[in-house]
Amino acid sequence: MTSVEPTAESQAVAAAIARHGHEPGPLIVVLHAVQDALGYIPEQAVRQIADGLNLSRAEVFGVVTFYHYFRTHKPGARTVQICRAEACQARGCQSLERHAREKLGIDYHETTADGSTSLEMVFCMGNCATGPAVRIDGRLYSHVTPERFDALLAHQENAL
Ligand code: FES
Repeated sequence: MTSVEPTAESQAVAAAIARHGHEPGPLIVVLHAVQDALGYIPEQAVRQIADGLNLSRAEVFGVVTFYHYFRTHKPGARTVQICRAEACQARGCQSLERHAREKLGIDYHETTADGSTSLEMVFCMGNCATGPAVRIDGRLYSHVTPERFDALLAHQENAL
């Protein structure tokens, strides 16, 4: 019998299961812990989590794909999130979304070919009065017009 060396990814998943697997309804908590550690939920992790929590792979995969928050692919160097909730829509987020997808050449849940940027949608960042709201690598920006979006990206590119 051959043994497979644990990878950094499988160790991170095992740690998440060990830490949270005993909690009631642990799947969501384990998935959050894995994504926090790895930035996404790799295909191999779905199998490992299913085995560790005594669930079917279909159950785990179903939850991963149901929630937009969970990523199934490695994210880019920076993550751009655009709020699509009602208040931001009333403040013009749809034209911002169109502009962002065109500018980056990707759709939501995709990463640019050079791996620099992932684009995500979110539903409210608690910044409703000053939308459209955008978050780049965890930093929140208000009143984001297409022009401001370009300026923010250019500024971020210098920081990458
Ligand atoms: S609706 Fe966009 S931040 Fe609340």
